[in-house]
Amino acid sequence: MDFVQSRQLAPNLVYVAEAGSTNTDLVSAAVAHPSDFDHFSVLVTDNQTAGRGRIGREWVTPPGASLAVSVLLRPKFAATAFGWLPLLAGLAMSRTVQRLLPERKDVGLKWPNDVLVAGQKISGVLSELLPDLSGVVVGAGLNVLQTAEQLPVDTATSLFLAGLKTEINLDGALAIYLTELRELSADLEAAGGDAVASGLRDAVIQNCVTIGQTVRAIMPGDSEVVGTAVAIDNSGRLLISSGLSGQLTAVAAGDIVHLRLAN
Ligand code: BTN
Repeated sequence: MDFVQSRQLAPNLVYVAEAGSTNTDLVSAAVAHPSDFDHFSVLVTDNQTAGRGRIGREWVTPPGASLAVSVLLRPKFAATAFGWLPLLAGLAMSRTVQRLLPERKDVGLKWPNDVLVAGQKISGVLSELLPDLSGVVVGAGLNVLQTAEQLPVDTATSLFLAGLKTEINLDGALAIYLTELRELSADLEAAGGDAVASGLRDAVIQNCVTIGQTVRAIMPGDSEVVGTAVAIDNSGRLLISSGLSGQLTAVAAGDIVHLRLAN
């Protein structure tokens, strides 16, 4: 498959007809040959056989029905700001889905980086820091052609099921994602990694359908908090207000379940 449009945006783009996990492969390659893998190196396939998700989960897709893409980001700012890159990638993918489904007003980001259409997941992001802290591989899976029977859970959807009108073109979809990703990462870079100054924090909040919802947060170690998601702080953490006193919990990592719309 040719990715002519995408390659114009990311000259160091490699398409493989099959991969176990594009994240695993790109991390290994960047570690083994760092000088061959610069900022915005891309590995993409439409047949990922051992996809990995967040929190040790699997990412399961049938051959030919979805996009699996990993992008190496080597920002010039301090690694302490790298925590924003997973949210940045989620926002880039959310905007991509919004551009592909312009008639839908129910597309948005579920903190930290799932993309939902009418509450159903269409994309997920797994970000992995290189061991020498010189960069982050952001891997995104986008459900494209799957039928309902081909999705692993009934809380998932695909562009096809969500009503994509135009002919589905993986190169076109990837080119939109790479454009959004480049623009957001350039803005963050220009602000020296300051997500508030670059406008990234506000943009994520605006796009995030989790804000305002009643949620359960399951944090590492299995501690839980139930409350209303009220904001995203300057470090990208989700702020949850709970109890009568409205005590705030800042969640840096974990699994969020949207329980119901807050009244
Ligand atoms: C999640 O929702 O849990 C994250 C899913 C991330 C899947 C993508 S597909 C491309 C890249 N390679 C992987 O093995 N995982 C990510």
